[in-house]
Amino acid sequence: MRIAVLGDLHLISPDADVMRRRLREHFALTQASFRQLTERIRAEQPEMIIPLGDLVDWCCPANLHYGTAMLRKLEIPWHLVPGNHDLSRPDFIGEGVNDAQAKACEAWRILGVDLSNRFIDLEDTRLILLDSALGTIEEDALEWLDEATNTDRRVLLFTHVPLHHEQIAKTIHRIDPRKNLQKYMQQQPCFQTHIQGRIDAVFTGHLHFAAYTDIDGTACHMLPLSITAHEAHYPDQGHFSIIELSAEPALHTVNIATGCRTTHPLVPPTRRRPHAMAPGLSTSLKKTTRPR
Ligand SMILES: [Fe+2]
Ligand SMILES: [Fe+2]
Repeated sequence: MRIAVLGDLHLISPDADVMRRRLREHFALTQASFRQLTERIRAEQPEMIIPLGDLVDWCCPANLHYGTAMLRKLEIPWHLVPGNHDLSRPDFIGEGVNDAQAKACEAWRILGVDLSNRFIDLEDTRLILLDSALGTIEEDALEWLDEATNTDRRVLLFTHVPLHHEQIAKTIHRIDPRKNLQKYMQQQPCFQTHIQGRIDAVFTGHLHFAAYTDIDGTACHMLPLSITAHEAHYPDQGHFSIIELSAEPALHTVNIATGCRTTHPLVPPTRRRPHAMAPGLSTSLKKTTRPR
């Protein structure tokens, strides 16, 4: 089983608002790199794609149609976790935050895109997709996470905003001391209570650069932009990851321009707990925490 994991894409439709396209030209002019990305993904032949949020640069009908159409062209099943930009409605500034987000979620749902918290079981591995788009995880979502991680399977967590942890803060600070940690790290600590000893690896986007740290046996993979921005520099941009679930699970990082790849263990060598083998593939969609 091979899963392509994509960092932020910030796709913008050619039909989206002209003024805003100009303001966001670094993401509006990424079509060529997006083509490179899709060619590399095809070459890797994954059976599933997980974009880590910020699939689009802002939430409007043109961008949502464009973003979903671009991914559907690949004809590979994909499962999105929402990013803050996927829910951002610049045209609804006057509304309450919850109302604007609920409308954004509804717009995705109408296009057939599920943003709820859910998990997918693949033989000996459970993939958990968790909404952290706004930098917080609600209490009922944490309760759900406890249930979802109560399994003998290997557990991989996919969520947009990096976890709140001192080690993550240090890692981010080392790469870019200017990053505002209030914005680029989840707001509440939940590592010790809900992650430690329960989750083997965590995949996040949002930072727009690549970073890695191992926190007490949990591998924290922070993915860069998977497209290359136009005339703007984001460290390590233009890479995506392939999770290879096999006897020796691995993580390959692929450069979309050159096709060069580097390979690392999926989980730290210190983390080798036994995993029960369960037959077949089953998908379980769980409760929603955000008002729809
Ligand atoms: Fe982003
Ligand atoms: Fe983001």
